[in-house]
Amino acid sequence: MKNIIVLVSGGGTNLQALIDAQKSGIIKNGRITCVISSKPDAYALTRAEQNGIKTRVMPRKEYGDSKSYSLAILDALNEEKADLVVLAGFMTILDEAVTKAYPYKIMNVHPALIPSFCGEGFYGLKVHEAALNYGVKVSGATVHFVNEKADAGAIIMQKSVEVKNGDTPEMLQKRIMEQAEWKILPEAVSLFCDDRIKIVNEKAEVI
Ligand code: GAR
Repeated sequence: MKNIIVLVSGGGTNLQALIDAQKSGIIKNGRITCVISSKPDAYALTRAEQNGIKTRVMPRKEYGDSKSYSLAILDALNEEKADLVVLAGFMTILDEAVTKAYPYKIMNVHPALIPSFCGEGFYGLKVHEAALNYGVKVSGATVHFVNEKADAGAIIMQKSVEVKNGDTPEMLQKRIMEQAEWKILPEAVSLFCDDRIKIVNEKAEVI
C-alpha cells in the first residue's frame, strides 16, 4: 500500500475527488495518509479532517524564500514516508530540493491542456482567463509529473473540455473541474499506485 501525501492551498475539490476514489475503491493500492496545506484557512483541511486524514499546515508566508520552504516540505514528505506526492491546487512552486528527491513521484493537476496556458503565473482562474482571452474552443486538464520546471514534467493524462460562447473564467473552471480534473487525477493516482506508469525517454507511458 502506497502512502499518498496531498499538498493543497484552497478549496480542495480535487482532494475530495481523491478521497471519494479511495472510498469507492477506484484507488486500491494507495491511501491518503497526510494532507499538507500552504494556507491555514484552506477548506481542503476541513475535507481532510472530516475524513479522518492527518493534516499539517505549513504556511508559505512563514518561510523566507522558496528554498527554505521547499526544504521544510521535503522534511515533511520524508517524515510522512511519502510514496506519491499529489499537488492538488497547491499554489507554490517547489524547487529542485524536492523534485530531485522525488523524481516521477510528484504529480500535479493543471487546469489546461499543457503546453497551452501553463508555466509560472498560470494558476487557478488566471489559466481560464488566458484561455478565454485567446479564444480557444477546447481547453481541458493535464496530470503530469513535476520536475524542476513549472508545468514541464512528463504528461500522464489529459482530457479535453469544450469552451462555450459566453463562458466566464468561473464557468470554464467549473466545467473543466467536473468533466476533466476530478476524473483524470484519481485515475492517474490509481495507475501510479498499481505500478502502471512507466517512464520511457523521459515520457510517461501507461502500461
Ligand atoms: C484546480 O483547478 C487546479 O487544477 C488548479 O487550481 C484549482 C484548485 O482547486 N491548479 C493550478 O492552477 C496549479 N497550477 P481545488 O482546490 O478545488 O482542487
